[in-house]
Amino acid sequence: MGQKKLIKFAAIKEYENVLEYPQGMPGKWAAYFHELEKGTINIELDSLAVVDDTNESSSVSNKKPLVLELACGRGEYAVGLGRMFSNQNFVGLDLKGNRIWKGASIANRDGLKNVAFIRTQIDQVTQYFAQDEVNEIWITFPDPQLRLSKAKKRLTHPKFLRLYQQFLKKADGENNNSSGVVHLKTDSPNLFLFTKTVVELYGLTLITATDNLYSSELMQSDKWDDRYAIKTYYEGLNIASSNRIHYIQFKLDKELPIELDEKLKEIIAEFEITETHESLARNGKQAME
Ligand SMILES: C[S@@+](CC[C@H](N)C(=O)[O-])C[C@H]1O[C@@H](n2cnc3c(N)ncnc32)[C@H](O)[C@@H]1O
Repeated sequence: MGQKKLIKFAAIKEYENVLEYPQGMPGKWAAYFHELEKGTINIELDSLAVVDDTNESSSVSNKKPLVLELACGRGEYAVGLGRMFSNQNFVGLDLKGNRIWKGASIANRDGLKNVAFIRTQIDQVTQYFAQDEVNEIWITFPDPQLRLSKAKKRLTHPKFLRLYQQFLKKADGENNNSSGVVHLKTDSPNLFLFTKTVVELYGLTLITATDNLYSSELMQSDKWDDRYAIKTYYEGLNIASSNRIHYIQFKLDKELPIELDEKLKEIIAEFEITETHESLARNGKQAME
């Protein structure tokens, strides 16, 4: 392993705003951010209070909405949103410590006490949050997993959405607030179409979907939201060669019956194969499937 990576790994071990595979965190994020804001050194995770809506601890004043960025990489969204919304807390999750180091270092440098990172596997995400603890989820430029055989690894596959439902606050149908909302930003037309198909098939509430986020019509309309403009490292790479940023926002507000998974597989089989070949060809690789 390179020297630079080793230095970054060592650095995040010392950072209060990075938790690596932490144990016993469900229900404790409010207390954790409370300590982070106070500037506590060596935050003892074991002694943090569990705070939920029925058991407000008087010592924890930091019960702010919690927003999770999945596959955060360098954490541009966690940091960018943290700057925009001081009344919310943000957690970026990724496996790669050297990437997390970047966002965590910026948050430390700029005194963003409402931004933290967790280093772990997304597949294990339910181990870290209690029921209803997370208000909103951002998924930013995840690997599109183009091969049909890898569809279950897409972060908007119902298999993952069922995990998110275990800790994402229920969408409030009455109020037009952000609870229960999932945002996906991607340059992959395939992942975008796949996610739209999931939303339609399982009857989830679609809020916004565009295959050209930076079109002048949207940018000049009252539907524009400054959160859309945060740029990530992978956004700049244009790996899918689509030259378009796709964005979809939906509410995770319905049961996701397992029986529909087979139907999903059938539906996506058609459009997936074409796109996989095209994408591979665009990247100058031989189509394997
Ligand atoms: C294409 S990068 C996007 C990073 C960042 N969101 C961006 O837009 O620059 C995908 C990220 O997902 C992370 N990732 C992939 N599989 C993961 C998993 N199972 N658990 C946690 N992170 C994962 C990778 O480490 C990588 O940083």
